[in-house]
Amino acid sequence: MADLAVQRGGAQRRPIEHVPALAPLVGDYEARRRSFTWEAARDWLRGDDEGHLNMAHEAVDRHAEGPLADTVAIRFLSRVAPTTELTYAQLREQSDVAATALRRLGVGPGDGVCTLLPRSPELYLTVLGTLKAGAVYCPLFPAFGPEPVVERLRLGHIRVLVTDTQSYVRKCEPHRDALPDLRHVLLTDVGDAEAPAGTTPWSVALGAGATAYDPSTFTVALTRADDPALLHFTSGTTGKPKGAVHVHEAILAHHVTAEFALDLRPGDVYWCTADPGWVTGTSYGILGPLSCGVTIVTDSADFDARRWYRILQDERVTVFYTAPTALRMLMRAGVGLAREHTFPALRHVVSVGEPLNPEAVVWGVDAFGLPVHDTWWQTETGAIMVSNFPGMPVRPGSMGRPVPGVVAAVLAQGPDGRAAVEGGRVRVLGPDEVGELALRPGWPSMFRAYVDDPERYAKAFADGWYLSGDLARIDADGYVWFIGRADDVIKSAGHLIGPFEVESALMEHPAVAEVGVIGKPDPLAGEIVKAFVTLKVGHEPSPALARELVAFGRHRLGSVAPREIAFDQALPHTRSGKVMRRLLRARELGLPEGDLSTVERPSAQGGEGES
Ligand code: WT7
Repeated sequence: MADLAVQRGGAQRRPIEHVPALAPLVGDYEARRRSFTWEAARDWLRGDDEGHLNMAHEAVDRHAEGPLADTVAIRFLSRVAPTTELTYAQLREQSDVAATALRRLGVGPGDGVCTLLPRSPELYLTVLGTLKAGAVYCPLFPAFGPEPVVERLRLGHIRVLVTDTQSYVRKCEPHRDALPDLRHVLLTDVGDAEAPAGTTPWSVALGAGATAYDPSTFTVALTRADDPALLHFTSGTTGKPKGAVHVHEAILAHHVTAEFALDLRPGDVYWCTADPGWVTGTSYGILGPLSCGVTIVTDSADFDARRWYRILQDERVTVFYTAPTALRMLMRAGVGLAREHTFPALRHVVSVGEPLNPEAVVWGVDAFGLPVHDTWWQTETGAIMVSNFPGMPVRPGSMGRPVPGVVAAVLAQGPDGRAAVEGGRVRVLGPDEVGELALRPGWPSMFRAYVDDPERYAKAFADGWYLSGDLARIDADGYVWFIGRADDVIKSAGHLIGPFEVESALMEHPAVAEVGVIGKPDPLAGEIVKAFVTLKVGHEPSPALARELVAFGRHRLGSVAPREIAFDQALPHTRSGKVMRRLLRARELGLPEGDLSTVERPSAQGGEGES
């Protein structure tokens, strides 16, 4: 820690400029683990003398003045347009301009600004401009249909939406009456003449910002470490989507984990394939890597195995962060295609979001000459919590070990599958025992609230632990092994899908009496959404009706809709009348139903988690 101790003292009371480039973790996991504390790390990031701290400023501006000023911060690849680039100096200026543009629209501290966009310069500038204006940035997944979009805009009290015309007209315009908080819609693909009523072209808003922008007087909003910065929606088992709130000091966790787990440092060319509509796209698609001073490569095209290998090769990508579904798609294209390319620059391949098959870890060695390193975290944790660190022996099938500064444990389960809490206490299990994975809160990117839902937030904690909702075991050497979800939430292609939201949408179809949805194992996506439907009297099951329900779901929900429909005479229920999704899933998987009998016992708490 000697290197860090030197960093303390008066000189540090400035923004992140003084955050030391941490020594790479290679071969040094034990030493780091023993010595690292978030308290010490926070000392690097106290902000200015009044304790102000702004995430976008920390991530970008300090590089814009140093030796990285003319280094490319982001390189935008596209199938249809020429490649464009922004250096750190340009990114600082353009994000200042975006902040000025948003301020001119009346956006101020605490206001919600949302994007519904593919990977594009407008998206990155909105993120950074929003944060610099002191407002709260909320990403939305562009493949969402109108229902999930409107629900999240409403729950997040979003003031400004940045999107394109097609998304606006289909997913937002018909519901604008239901969105009283939404003041401005900025469209990235129109000029003044074509903008639909009630919208403003992004180019016009940004142009006004550019005219008003004066670099000598511009100030980044004086946010504090604990002011809200990011709002990320995630899904639970029941009820509405959960809006997890993260604060400005989260940048410290993004920075440290990007360095520890992703091994990022200046000079790296880094590609994160996560969609910017999800938390990975913010923490490790934008903020973490920028704060590490790397060159981000981003591609607006959809998955294409040949194109992906080309990008890894031609852009000389050094660190690649992707997901098991994408790796399985690459595997399906055959290792021969990988071998048509060479990746001499590639140093570290990392995965997140869903269980990483041991075969994929080993396949990495075949395809890239490198094992794939797994990482585990969640929307709520905001940053990587468990990882196979560079230099650490990888145990294929394990997610790795806790990040330095993170304490993880496995807790004994109760009858509902979640951690048993008795008299306010939980029971920590020993090596290799299976239970709910829990973490001791205290890292900077920990979520601080679910929007407008303090009760649900409180339920995420017990006895000083944050309860993850995942089942895991930790072996005697501290490696964490994923077992499954402790609740009914579905994971498809790395995205969490709340069964309740899907069921509610299908219930609006006139033929549907009742629905239960489950995640059905799928060789590519991990799981796909399958719906079991009971019909109203007068409606008969038929392949045509099944197709109609699939289309109905797709139209309302977008890509999170069910892909399979099964008609069921009578769905199984708990005593309290809820559809027993776990029993539906057990039947689908051919598991013995007897194992689930406890769920139906009247003394049990019922089959549904309330998270
Ligand atoms: C859930 C969190 C991870 C950030 C983006 C998704 C599952 C995550 C792994 C992994 C097995 C994983 C868990 C977790 N998950 N990483 N390495 N192995 N499962 O964040 O949408 O909040 O999803 O993703 O079930 O709880 P999220």
